[in-house]
Amino acid sequence: MTDPIARWKAEHANFSRLLDLMDAQIALFHEGERPDYELMLDVMHYMTHYPDQYHHPHEDLACQVLLEREAAYREAVEDLAGQHARIAASGTRLVQDLNAIVNGALIARAAVETDSAAYTRTLRQHMQQEHELIFPALDRVLDTADWASLDTRIDLAADPIFGGSVDKRYTALQQRIAEQVGCDCTPVT
Ligand SMILES: [Fe+2]
Ligand SMILES: [Fe+2]
Repeated sequence: MTDPIARWKAEHANFSRLLDLMDAQIALFHEGERPDYELMLDVMHYMTHYPDQYHHPHEDLACQVLLEREAAYREAVEDLAGQHARIAASGTRLVQDLNAIVNGALIARAAVETDSAAYTRTLRQHMQQEHELIFPALDRVLDTADWASLDTRIDLAADPIFGGSVDKRYTALQQRIAEQVGCDCTPVT
């Protein structure tokens, strides 16, 4: 059984690489150049289909066990669950905005850029909070049996970019990750 906290930390490093790509596109916008909206859309498609549907719900389940053991974590756990919900909602909104741009709909591009910057900032702060407060608490309080029990309650899908084989939908994105922000993966040719 893989250590879930080690896996989450590795996934955070992957998410950070994607946020770096997003931030680079936002910087282009500020320099008056056209961002690569298709690339941003690929990143956000992934963020709303892997972290929002598997990574964060798994963390929420583990946090529920933490709360059952130590009620003092109630505020932190509820705060984290709220952040997960807000991150998912703003990610979905961003996908809709980017889709609108790619499809030529009339939409304020500056607003999309502001929302993108807010998304990357919020997710970075969120991951930092998990590293500093939540992961150490989970590591201290949950035992092997807890983690094994959680594994039976969660649908663990393979990561479609970093999980060993790359989903066709993300081939171009994976190439950009390898070229621009580095990854432990081999670019697909
Ligand atoms: Fe999270
Ligand atoms: Fe996380």
